[in-house]
Amino acid sequence: MTNETEMTEVDSVDEPISQTTVWREAVVARRTELTDPETVSATQAAPLEQDVSRRNFIRASFWSGLGVTILGSLGLFLDFFWPRNVKGFGGPVPAGNVADYPRGAPPVANQEGQFWIANLDPNDSADNGTDGASGLIALWRKCPHLGCTVPWSPNASADISSEVGWFKCPCHGSTYTRSGIRVFGPAPRSMDTMKIDIDDAGNITVQTGEVMPGGPDNPDRAVDHPLLPS
Ligand code: FES
Repeated sequence: MTNETEMTEVDSVDEPISQTTVWREAVVARRTELTDPETVSATQAAPLEQDVSRRNFIRASFWSGLGVTILGSLGLFLDFFWPRNVKGFGGPVPAGNVADYPRGAPPVANQEGQFWIANLDPNDSADNGTDGASGLIALWRKCPHLGCTVPWSPNASADISSEVGWFKCPCHGSTYTRSGIRVFGPAPRSMDTMKIDIDDAGNITVQTGEVMPGGPDNPDRAVDHPLLPS
């Protein structure tokens, strides 16, 4: 009984001492933690990393959104302005059949395609003639000088020749042969030509979107065809 009492008293005395020790050790450990640079940097780095990754996320979201907006606007722009199924001037324009164009006949106006079309006679060696060209030629009626509409004038004369019948611009007098070669006036070049397609049956399509600047090789651009009247 005496021993038990002694043991109980000793335990009750030791317990507060061991708790104090534990608290002390805890306080020391905490102080060490707060003064240890590695621990401090580790505890500070975590929120910093979180902050950086959040900033990166916001930045990436901003640029992604901006990119999507720009691409969307570009797509709408192209969709609106991209030519598709162009009809009339600027696209393919039917111009009848080769049988409609006797060789050497006066040029025929095509209002829809804004061109003159003619079956050139290679034997027409007159000043206003074909420069040896043979076949169909399509000439854009727009004057290369300042854009006036150039008519075929069967009775027009030119200062340089006694021949009558010229493409003669009413604005400043530029004058061209049947194959569109410039012979007089301020125009910087001959009349522009348009690409001609002819199918096996002789049906003609003029590609009014494919214009070639006029030049001394205009006669070489005439298109021949087996069904073209000769
Ligand atoms: S616009 Fe044709 S000559 Fe000037």
